[in-house]
Amino acid sequence: MNLFVANWKMNKTREESRDYARRLGEILGDRDPRVELVIAPPYTALDAARDPGGRWSLAGQNVAAETEGAYTGEVSARMLADAGCRYVIVGHSERRRLFGEESGVLARKLTRVREAGLTPIYCLGETEEEREEGLTATVLVAQVETLGGDPDDAPLVVAYEPVWAIGTGKAATVEDARSARVHLAELLSARRNARILYGGSVTTENARALLDESGVDGFLIGGASLKPAAFAAISGIGGDS
Ligand code: PGA
Repeated sequence: MNLFVANWKMNKTREESRDYARRLGEILGDRDPRVELVIAPPYTALDAARDPGGRWSLAGQNVAAETEGAYTGEVSARMLADAGCRYVIVGHSERRRLFGEESGVLARKLTRVREAGLTPIYCLGETEEEREEGLTATVLVAQVETLGGDPDDAPLVVAYEPVWAIGTGKAATVEDARSARVHLAELLSARRNARILYGGSVTTENARALLDESGVDGFLIGGASLKPAAFAAISGIGGDS
């Protein structure tokens, strides 16, 4: 089933989150959306963004690499599971770039996520410089290696998010998304239960073509997911931008 993940990043108070959840619930109504919807709110709004009716699930935007203990400011995978999360975003380029998260720490986070029974949404993608140097394929291979210790049979979500497309309004072309998807599917051929998403400047305007023509299994959506109607429209379940 296609999967659409709303990554709110550092946006929305609890009240704003409750309002969003109410409006998304109204758009969805009783219909079976036939797609899977996930909201990744800030930690403080996990409870406010929940759907009591279970029409969408929750994801953490980040997770600690350690299990528990003296790590001020960190939130463990077990705490995320306890707060109702089913998924956790690991390796978002903002974490890699702004907070220096590299392969070693990301591999430890993936282990913690599995120990807590959660499913990772593992993000990867090349920077603009890497792309210009023709290194996209090499970068994807290296970033997939971080999944080396992750069990082959466990459900996995991988989000191809070229760094140059995130928050820039410059989404990948259908061809770029398709070729990254094909390459990732090859690299992940041992994984029976993997879905490959695209992320980076997805909007109500470009979503349909990207989804239909690139063959991805859904999107990780940042800016455009902040409005419930746009998130619903991108996910193909009605509502307008
Ligand atoms: P964007 O962000 O849709 O705002 O480009 C995507 C992401 O960072 O996951």
